[in-house]
Amino acid sequence: MPPYDLCIVIPTLDERENIGLLLEKLRSVLASIRYEVIVVDDDSPDGTAAFAKRLTRTQDNLRVLHRIGRRGLSSACIEGMLATSAPYIAVMDADLQHDETILPEMYHRIRSQDLDLVVGSRNIDGGSMGEFSRWRLRLSHLGRRLSGVERHASLTDPMSGFFVIRRSFFERVAHRLTGRGFKILLDIVLSSDGRIRVSEVPYRFRLRQHGHSKLDLIVGLEYLELILDKLIGDYVSVRFVLFTLVGTLGTVIHLLLLGAMLKIERLSFVDSQTCATGIVMILNYVMNNSLTYRDRRRRGASFLLGMLTFCIACSLGVVANVGISSEAFRHGMPWALAGVTGLLFSGIWNYGVTANTTWRQSRRSAEHRAQAAALVEDSTVPDTALHS
Ligand code: GDD
Ligand code: MN
Repeated sequence: MPPYDLCIVIPTLDERENIGLLLEKLRSVLASIRYEVIVVDDDSPDGTAAFAKRLTRTQDNLRVLHRIGRRGLSSACIEGMLATSAPYIAVMDADLQHDETILPEMYHRIRSQDLDLVVGSRNIDGGSMGEFSRWRLRLSHLGRRLSGVERHASLTDPMSGFFVIRRSFFERVAHRLTGRGFKILLDIVLSSDGRIRVSEVPYRFRLRQHGHSKLDLIVGLEYLELILDKLIGDYVSVRFVLFTLVGTLGTVIHLLLLGAMLKIERLSFVDSQTCATGIVMILNYVMNNSLTYRDRRRRGASFLLGMLTFCIACSLGVVANVGISSEAFRHGMPWALAGVTGLLFSGIWNYGVTANTTWRQSRRSAEHRAQAAALVEDSTVPDTALHS
């Protein structure tokens, strides 16, 4: 028999000010349940991992999964969930926005009603979005409709990051999860075959007290990425698809710029083409850096260095492109087809080379974080967090 009946998985990114408070609240509401806590931290610059590790000295049902070189709410949750042997697993945010007082009810319900999943919902009677922006509300409704989630379960809040799941059910779908983005629940639901036995418990989404939300504007895009991955992820990497989309957009912009410089500015073809190529290369770099490789985004001086390697790689890509397409054209391939073939080759080249140079995981930045964490380790944790 496993030592714990329930495991609480808490993903964290810069939650040093919240995590101690949450653990304290959990202790009081879960007093009658044998539970453990797994904090999954993505090497937070504020030293959340080191802080939480210190807390394990006085709380022996606490473990910390400290991940380096990886980012993402979904994948953090998945790894935490895979690390427990408890028969039921809860996932909740660290920032106190999820109401921990409904956890006992969620837990008892999943056990007594033999369910796969119990979701904390803000959208049924008794629940509420709190002071959530209208804009996000709309987005979340749209997302629900887009995803086709209704085929698997009737959920009023499939975007929730607050739920309790039966471990055997989770492990059945675990291999099919994309782990992308932050919609872990949606990922699970869309990965299940057949209908899910599910129930919902209402709660009021609280306002965040400390720190700030990690979900920015581009997160909407990550959501589309998850859906895209579900559709085509078995055949081709979504990153490559994004890279190609950026490249295609770049090509259109290139043609517009070229046309404008030729016709309006009356520059020579060589000048116009050179100019347009340079601009579009930089533009593509910026777009890929903030979209395709958003999890490894380069900033500051590293941003400029990345731009340099990107431009060098892509210049070689152009050489390959022209070489291959003119060779194909010479052997009788129609011009349009030859052109596209050249583009395709340089696209694959650019993707492969930049993935391994420009956006290669950097060890140096990881070391910086390790130093920051060491500082936290040395400093003293407030007594209130350690003894309670
Ligand atoms: N390990 C890890 N890695 N944790 C992360 C990461 C990451 O990349 N990004 C965010 N987190 C953690 C945060 O520290 C927090 O504990 C939790 O995940 C939620 O992040 P927030 O930044 O607070 O997200 P939110 O409040 O805007 O969004 C919440 O509500 C959404 C519903 O609208 C989350 O619960 C979402 O999952 C949910 O969809
Ligand atoms: Mn939050």
